[in-house]
Amino acid sequence: MEPYNTAALYDRIAQWWQIQHQDSLYGIAQLERAIEFTAKRNAAIDIGCGSSGRFIKILSQHGFLAEGLDISREMIDLAKQLHPEITFYREDICCWLPEKLYSLISAWDSTFHLPLNMQEPVIKKLCDALEAGGVVLFTCGGGHTSAEISGSFQGQDFEYSTLGVDAFLRILSEHQCTCRHLEYDQFPENHVYIIAQKTS
Ligand SMILES: C[S@@+](CC[C@H](N)C(=O)[O-])C[C@H]1O[C@@H](n2cnc3c(N)ncnc32)[C@H](O)[C@@H]1O
Repeated sequence: MEPYNTAALYDRIAQWWQIQHQDSLYGIAQLERAIEFTAKRNAAIDIGCGSSGRFIKILSQHGFLAEGLDISREMIDLAKQLHPEITFYREDICCWLPEKLYSLISAWDSTFHLPLNMQEPVIKKLCDALEAGGVVLFTCGGGHTSAEISGSFQGQDFEYSTLGVDAFLRILSEHQCTCRHLEYDQFPENHVYIIAQKTS
């Protein structure tokens, strides 16, 4: 599915997402783990931040200058209402051109929606946007090989893709990032989160 079609689906559930996830702890322990690896607390960005800004709130509490990026206009508009002091970008991560380097980049349950052929360029882009010692946290489908699947969520038919865990690890290593943590955090679900750090 093309990113702008994914955005249209998220526009429809943005309000629900904000109410449901404003105080949700989903992914927060994993974000805290990623934060522990950071050497510096300069800029941070949450890719596919959604409407609650919940990761941004934690990043700000830890002293990062946090920003958010999302392709869904509704998600971004609602997030801005809750966090008027934060810089938000309404952009497709595939087209985003980072203007600075980040100490931390999170992409929780967002890049798994990318078309398969955009997985590698986007993960490369996230690695390249890290400062030395910077940390990236992202989730992906944890199969051995690449796959594309669809699934219904809140009445919307979403699509997902993965390169497989080995390919993600290869891309990270080819772009000067070392895997610090990889976990099937919802086993037996095929959901994986990866924390990697740019070599200093
Ligand atoms: C499952 S939600 C997760 C939201 C947030 N990370 C959270 O955990 O609360 C996925 C988010 O990724 C965003 N997203 C999907 N594809 C994207 C893309 N190509 N560029 C930027 N954001 C995208 C969606 O609009 C949606 O807000």
